[in-house]
Amino acid sequence: PEVALRHGAGRPMPAVGVGTADSAATSPETKRGAALAALEVGFRHFDTAALYGTEAPLGEAIAEATRRGLVASREEVFVTTKLWCTQCHPGLVLPSLRESLRNLQMEYVDLYLVHWPISVKPGPPMLPVKRGDAVPFDFEGVWRAMEECHRLGLAKAIGVSNFTTKHLDKLLAVATIPPAVNQVEMNPVWQQRTVREYCAAKGIRVAAYSPLGGQNWIGEGNDVMESPVLADIARARGKSIAQVSLRWIHEQGVTPIPKSYNKERLKQNLEIFDWELTKEDRLKISQIPQKKIVTAARMFSPDGEFASVDLSDMEIV
Ligand code: A2P
Repeated sequence: PEVALRHGAGRPMPAVGVGTADSAATSPETKRGAALAALEVGFRHFDTAALYGTEAPLGEAIAEATRRGLVASREEVFVTTKLWCTQCHPGLVLPSLRESLRNLQMEYVDLYLVHWPISVKPGPPMLPVKRGDAVPFDFEGVWRAMEECHRLGLAKAIGVSNFTTKHLDKLLAVATIPPAVNQVEMNPVWQQRTVREYCAAKGIRVAAYSPLGGQNWIGEGNDVMESPVLADIARARGKSIAQVSLRWIHEQGVTPIPKSYNKERLKQNLEIFDWELTKEDRLKISQIPQKKIVTAARMFSPDGEFASVDLSDMEIV
């Protein structure tokens, strides 16, 4: 299944994608191999970002898949990339997208997202954001430049990531072209009801990163994969916990973007469309105690990467 995005002039967005956030420690070859494995099992939707160092390996994997005839052309694949905080300045948006396109070896991306509602002094480096480097986010100026990317055909659709309802309010007040997507952390342990209701009312598609509770930067285990509620449901349905989580996200009308470097697990993550959760399953999941996993507790701590950012609008616990 796939969904047509508002003002999305590219192919419709497949209902599940592959995440590619990874550390610089992983070799480009491993990253390329993982993307190729995902293409081989049938994924046609990839999520990358200027920050991740995966644009070039992803572009190579898609080029190779095209050469091999695995995909007929680049048009078959839905590709998202993101504008980093150091580039969140009106004059840097278009050059940043052009650089991403060079990395990807592509003429356009299907979706271009503002990575965070955070603007910091132009880099490099992208990280860390040093104390005092944050500057006020110019919603109007940055979004005008995003709209220009869309008008030029370099981004078939434009959107945002990590935006709370307050950020969306500010953005919608100035947008000529409203955002098509808001990509946020979402899974059964952090269900994002407020943001989802808001986005549904405004016609903004929600995409879910960390749909399996990954990226637990504070190293406290994985509350999704270790959830007894999800484990019970998985057993009863004859599915894996990962599949239960992804299926639940899909049933909420949200696009999950699970990341995996393992071919069997990649395959599993696509097999969520020919079965359903029961009403009782959904009720049990709705009662799971909520906990944000990609907590900013570390990221935004005095020694963290975003130490100087004003977080008053962020729903961070
Ligand atoms: P691996 O790459 O070894 O498969 P998230 O997408 O929430 O960030 O989670 C990513 C993490 O979940 C990765 O560590 C990945 O490990 C793991 N993962 C991905 N798919 C599955 C699956 N179907 N079952 C179990 N673990 C999975």
